[in-house]
Amino acid sequence: MAVAEQCPMDESRQLDPYEQDKEAHESFMKSRSSSLLGRKDILEEIDRGSRGKCGALIVLGGPGIGKSSLLARAADVACLRAAKAMPSGQGPNLNVFYHFVGAIPGSTNPEKMIKRLLRELNVCNDLNMPKDYESACQIASSALSNPNTRPTLIVIDALDQLDEDGTASALRWLPSKLRWLPPELAPQVCCVLSMINETPPHHTLRERKIKRVELPVPPLEMESRREIVSEILGQFDKRLDEEQMVSLLSKEASQNPLWLSIACEELRVYGVFSKATDKINTLADGLLELLAQVLERLEAEGGGSLMVATLCLLECSSSGLLEAELLAILGDEDNLMPSDNGKNKKKKVKPVYKDCSRKTVTRKVVFIGSWSLEQVLLHLLCILKCSGASKKRKKSNKPQPLTAVKWARVYRTLQPFLRPFGESGEGRLEFYHRSLSKAVRKKYFNARLAGEGEGAAMNVTLVCWWNTKLADYFENVSNLERKVEEYPYQLRKLGDKERLTECLSDWDMIKGLYNEDHSSQLLSYWRQMDEKYDTMASKYTEMSVAMSSDDPKKTADKLSCLARIL
Ligand SMILES: Nc1ncnc2c1ncn2[C@@H]1O[C@H](COP(=O)(O)OP(=O)(O)OP(=O)(O)O)[C@@H](O)[C@H]1O
Ligand SMILES: [Mg+2]
Repeated sequence: MAVAEQCPMDESRQLDPYEQDKEAHESFMKSRSSSLLGRKDILEEIDRGSRGKCGALIVLGGPGIGKSSLLARAADVACLRAAKAMPSGQGPNLNVFYHFVGAIPGSTNPEKMIKRLLRELNVCNDLNMPKDYESACQIASSALSNPNTRPTLIVIDALDQLDEDGTASALRWLPSKLRWLPPELAPQVCCVLSMINETPPHHTLRERKIKRVELPVPPLEMESRREIVSEILGQFDKRLDEEQMVSLLSKEASQNPLWLSIACEELRVYGVFSKATDKINTLADGLLELLAQVLERLEAEGGGSLMVATLCLLECSSSGLLEAELLAILGDEDNLMPSDNGKNKKKKVKPVYKDCSRKTVTRKVVFIGSWSLEQVLLHLLCILKCSGASKKRKKSNKPQPLTAVKWARVYRTLQPFLRPFGESGEGRLEFYHRSLSKAVRKKYFNARLAGEGEGAAMNVTLVCWWNTKLADYFENVSNLERKVEEYPYQLRKLGDKERLTECLSDWDMIKGLYNEDHSSQLLSYWRQMDEKYDTMASKYTEMSVAMSSDDPKKTADKLSCLARIL
């Protein structure tokens, strides 16, 4: 018997992708549910609502207020209830589907989410799963409005974090993220959905007049705040005296559990715990403001530019990075940072286009009539540097990865803000909280965030720098799965059509993105370059004509793959 058969390397790897996702969501659900304190009233309301014929129960609240934790507990309780009520020998009489958007890689893809829902509801299986997102939405919508569907509870956290569907342009009039939700749910079907107030899905739900009950998440109770502080500091044998506790909890932001847990982390790592009172007084009384202070500390303690680069690379990646990937990129220390290191932040560069490739420089100049000469020159300088860096990378020897000693310092400092290994699969490093992403964008990319004037303008030049670093790295990686995930994503962000066309015409990439039924991801990359797929059609036709017939079987497979895509 083969060694691989006798000792399978990893059981979970043998699960199909649906099962792997289900497990990852379950592990997130269990961990958030078990750490929840207090919240008795709103949990009862959710429980009551999810048993009645409420339609959609919308849990609303700002960043970090505890929406995911509440939905995790609600899902946990419903699963236990379903298991208890299970008549012997039969399946549970309540189907519970839960999905935490942004909690695991791939969870922000609405098509994947709806297809997983269809599978878990037993409406579709591998054999009859619809090919495309539109059909999946239609089937989900009719199942959820059908009175014969098994009693079902659907829990979806962070609906506002789902990706905009790239292939939806033909149906823009219909809100894509909620196309699967019928106007009227069957009485035995209930949805508990969470989102930040006044985000697009919240508006959509209102406009579509879906039967719903809105539940705003209230501030965390004083008692639970005390418990959180005692628990977090207690793990490190530290405690606040009564005066310090009162002083900390008198800050308005302490009603937000995320603010509170970050504040505790800041107190924990503060050198002289006996002087915690002084530290408490300096803690900013707002989530983003506190995170800005945290970033200052991380920079100071975690190795300056290495820390900044780590934060920027994680923020610009499509869904986190592996440690080895970060080490390889950070190893090129001499060329790590943009040369002005973001010091020109005050001179905001208007994001009139997204393209940073060398080829399109001339075209760009045509569009930048409203910039000052200084802005134009600055921007051109950066583009040349970006492309220069990419050229240099190809010519020069590969730099050594960052040394373990240097990385240990960065990692140790940053670790409390990273999702624990395993929770997001395959040891990927990514931010634990979305709010940290926001704080990074604000500090390092000059982003104006919602509520700070129009839109989220970013310093395109700085973002471009990091996207280029990632694109150059992933262009040459041998881990195909990761290359498929990151390389075209980075090129799309850069608007580099030339490299993206080259990338999507590479057999390894086609194989990675190809799906026999509907290669929606591959098609969406092409579509973003050219609505009519003309470039794709001519490129793939060219490839099929040029194919050699040395290996007829391989050639036939490739031709059939191209034919299906076309
Ligand atoms: N009731 C609670 N008891 C203990 N800890 C909590 C509670 N609510 C939230 N937390 C902790 O606070 C942090 C933020 O909570 P959570 O992620 O649930 O908020 P959120 O509203 O979903 O945030 P976001 O808007 O970023 O998605 C987490 O670390 C969580 O474990
Ligand atoms: Mg959340």
